[in-house]
Amino acid sequence: MKPTIVNSAQKKTEFCSALLQRMTLDEKVGQMVQSDLTWKQDLQQLLREGRIGSLLSVRDPLLINKYQHIAVDESRLGIPVLVGNDIIHGYRSIFPIPLALASSWDTQLIETVARASIAEALAAGTTWNFAPMVDISRDPRWGRIAESAGEDPYLNSQMARAWVEGYEGFSDADGRRVAACVKHYAAYGGAEAGKDYNTVDMSERRLREEYLPPYHAAVQAGVKTLMTSFNDLNGLPATANPFLLKQILRQEWGFDGVIISDYDSIGELIQHGFARDHKEAALRSVLAGVDIDMMGNAYHFHLAELVREGSVPESILDESVMRILGLKFELGLFEHPYLKEEAISGALMQPATLSLAEKAATESMVLLKNEAQLLPLTASAKKIALIGPLAEERASLMGCWSFNGRPAEVETLQEALQRNLPTGSQLITAPGCTIDGNDLDLAAVTSAANQADVIVLAIGERETMSGEAHSRAHLNLPGRQLELVRAVAASGKPVVGILFCGRPLAVPELVESVPALLLAWHGGTRAAQGVCEVLLGKVNPAGKLTATFPRSEGQIPVYYAHKRTGRPVESVGTIQFNEAHRSAYLDEKNEPLFPFGYGLSYTQFAYSDLQVETPRITAGGMLKVSAQIENTGSLTSREIVQLYIRDCVGVVTRPVKELKGFQKIELKPGEKRRVVFELPASSLAFLDAELHSIIEPGEFEVWIAPNSRDGLKGEFSVI
Ligand code: NOJ
Repeated sequence: MKPTIVNSAQKKTEFCSALLQRMTLDEKVGQMVQSDLTWKQDLQQLLREGRIGSLLSVRDPLLINKYQHIAVDESRLGIPVLVGNDIIHGYRSIFPIPLALASSWDTQLIETVARASIAEALAAGTTWNFAPMVDISRDPRWGRIAESAGEDPYLNSQMARAWVEGYEGFSDADGRRVAACVKHYAAYGGAEAGKDYNTVDMSERRLREEYLPPYHAAVQAGVKTLMTSFNDLNGLPATANPFLLKQILRQEWGFDGVIISDYDSIGELIQHGFARDHKEAALRSVLAGVDIDMMGNAYHFHLAELVREGSVPESILDESVMRILGLKFELGLFEHPYLKEEAISGALMQPATLSLAEKAATESMVLLKNEAQLLPLTASAKKIALIGPLAEERASLMGCWSFNGRPAEVETLQEALQRNLPTGSQLITAPGCTIDGNDLDLAAVTSAANQADVIVLAIGERETMSGEAHSRAHLNLPGRQLELVRAVAASGKPVVGILFCGRPLAVPELVESVPALLLAWHGGTRAAQGVCEVLLGKVNPAGKLTATFPRSEGQIPVYYAHKRTGRPVESVGTIQFNEAHRSAYLDEKNEPLFPFGYGLSYTQFAYSDLQVETPRITAGGMLKVSAQIENTGSLTSREIVQLYIRDCVGVVTRPVKELKGFQKIELKPGEKRRVVFELPASSLAFLDAELHSIIEPGEFEVWIAPNSRDGLKGEFSVI
């Protein structure tokens, strides 16, 4: 069926209703089934019968067109299929992992990265992107912390908007678009013990105030689809959870897009002990509101039967199918179902995309330590020893979701340094050990170190150590890398550590052992070049952490927006048995290794003259605070200025600090700027004891700050 289409809501409804009326029950179920190439069914035959509505993880463009031709030309109604893929941080040009990108605190950059990723992906046939992932996580053991913006609801919400607007804002020359999919709804990042897929049990207050806001922000930004999560939440699996899907998502937030399960998460209701078999799993999920069964085992085999026997009203399927057809219509799939094979190569790895990847890599880096201004390296560093197992890595630099990225297209740090060092410099390379093996070549390391003026130590995790199902109980440097650090430190030479990783690591000894440490994350295709630019001072690092670095695993969860408790460490505490009893450890500090919002620069910024211009505001009013920020160093750079508040006394206890705003500014040496924040009082709202949203009159503290620990403090009150 080849419609003449005017893209309006009315046309869409007319077109989709007409189509729906012609569909058999099996064809309706078909739209609600998604499958990948591993499904043990005859896909081509099912496409011909109209019994598959979307494909998952089909990455070969020729195969995509072949299947699309079967769906469009050989099925009775000719409905095209959607092609869903995980383009989490780039398609073929790989960008830094989302946790790294978030460290740029640059929503404009993220939107641009999203557009560039989707331009490549769409050219190669993807029409549905399973991103953004916006799961709050306060547990770096959880490997999927790599995929979100970290621990903070406000920051994750800003990033969620930027990702959605970038992904869905792009259209190609034919007007084809890609749907974004916010995931994993809900609270997947709250997994107990940081183990992937694990149970989540949290209060409704915490759920609504801390974990839900980023999904809600994506919905407000117009995201077209949403994926449910694998976990159970307070006893109900998220994939069959009417409270999450109907009450909050559809009723409270008014989401009218498509809801898809995660990979076989309907089938997994059986393992959860929530359904006896696939039939009951299908029943529970469809009644809870899941439109599409990713992998199809439950809907494909049982949904039609459930309708025929009267357990599921056909009207539920009709509503789902209308949403799915409407999505295909909005994306331009009925008009332009095929990708243009001849256009693919011209869309991939373009110079502009690669220079964006380079910019994204440098903007994501966080300078954690820089004693005696060891960085940037100066011309006196003639002989550089590049030591460490990440020196010659390619795939590891790309990060956890880089299916279409090619290691051969990634430069190693060794290659990039060789190319970037000024003539007359000498590079001596000694990996010293593998990333997580038991090998250690101390002789080679010592010899390289002894010859060097400065040592660059490339250490960390490989790309498979974070991401889905890649949680770690120990957040140290894997393998024998710490021994390498000790050996290098013992050489007495200046050492610059470059940390490549997919999560916050608990590495206090590393931090103490090296005078300079640059967090490069898993920075994508152009990571190595980005590191060189920062090392050599062509780019001044400006990133700041969006997830706290713990000192040890025992501190987890450790996050800045914690509650104060009745016995905070800074109080005297209760004297019992002659000791102060406070909320602290016997054998570990309360402070993290690096706090949320932290990051240094090659220049220095001085914060002064905080002014609370509105010391008393009403519930309908606006808070206005400002501070002077001055670049007191000798280099131009960007500074991420952060706004935090604290509600001092409430009808329920409130966090010690909450991020409510940020601005990234650039200042030349000696330049001063007054940074002004205006915050509506409504953003001070929270849930009272009955979970009603209130703006409570009372005293507040406010900080304009370089990170969540420091800053200038003022006061205001809501009257
Ligand atoms: C499972 C993952 O949890 C999800 O993030 C992803 O989108 C799907 N698999 C599809 O690959």
